[in-house]
Amino acid sequence: MSEKVKVTIDGITIDVDPGTSILNAARQIGGDIVPPAMCYYSKLEGSGGKCRTCLVKVSKGSEKDPRPMPKLVASCRTGVMDGMEVQNITSPEVIEARKGVVEILLINHPLDCPVCDQAGECHLQDLSYEHGVANTRYEFERRTFERIDIGDKIQLHMTRCILCYRCVYVADQLTDGRQHGILGRGDASEISTYIEKAIDNDFSGNVIDVCPVGALTDRTFRFKNRVWFTKPVDAHRDCPTCKGKVTLWYKGEEVLRVTGRKDQFGEVEDFICNTCRFETKNTSDWVIEGPRQIAHTSVISANHYEMLPLPVIKQNQALIEANKIEFDRASKI
Ligand code: SF4
Ligand code: FES
Repeated sequence: MSEKVKVTIDGITIDVDPGTSILNAARQIGGDIVPPAMCYYSKLEGSGGKCRTCLVKVSKGSEKDPRPMPKLVASCRTGVMDGMEVQNITSPEVIEARKGVVEILLINHPLDCPVCDQAGECHLQDLSYEHGVANTRYEFERRTFERIDIGDKIQLHMTRCILCYRCVYVADQLTDGRQHGILGRGDASEISTYIEKAIDNDFSGNVIDVCPVGALTDRTFRFKNRVWFTKPVDAHRDCPTCKGKVTLWYKGEEVLRVTGRKDQFGEVEDFICNTCRFETKNTSDWVIEGPRQIAHTSVISANHYEMLPLPVIKQNQALIEANKIEFDRASKI
């Protein structure tokens, strides 16, 4: 294995493999210095370079050539060099630029968080909170679109789309035969299914999990609840199509939705199939593992279950047996 390279981000030094992007080096350090990423998705090849939210300043290029880079760079698409020094939250220039990027992303994005199912887990909502300004300088008409029906499981709100391309990569890389993509250019670009064909394959539901905003949401969960009132619980099942490792989102004893398990960067650990996501919403379909750990900074971490087993499991002998390990663990706690 080739030698590691040293990179310093906001004063913290780390050794990483050559070829690592600045963003991934920052993720290895973790914490506040990690740049936000609206379009990069580590599990989707070719993603990144579209949204510019991950801009950073390279104040020293490398040990060999210490000149700073002349402009801010997209950290998801820029590789580290040995001795490189990078500034993210320590650079007022970066913070100012990110404010501008958020302003551009919000030019067309409606502020309909109060009725959007993505509220509480929307990366643009978080960014707007951190970097948004109260007023817009944009005086022109917002984009509007004809409603496009992409099937009974997934809802598309084109006005909320920030054209990050993640869902297009999912369609390309996870499903058989590409069925949707970005049509048009510039201001006229839009996500569409070709000849408005419904997305119909085993992994199409993953576009919901990768969409950083509320442009693609789960129709089976639509308007059922606010996500912060639901309780995320990790569970698995023996699925012939995917790994069957999911998060179940409970309200009381009812599973309101099923998603992939998202890590601290909002990326799913494993993509899941549509049967797991849309068709198996009974507790009896699953072996419960335990409450999903949610970052304490997230609004979702409020109200979630601290202890297992869930009351519904305690009432059913078959479920008690299926979840024996969890029962034993919980009783030890
Ligand atoms: S619909 Fe969502 S995932 Fe697809 S390009 Fe738009 S914002 Fe990205
Ligand atoms: S995350 Fe880097 S440009 Fe979008």
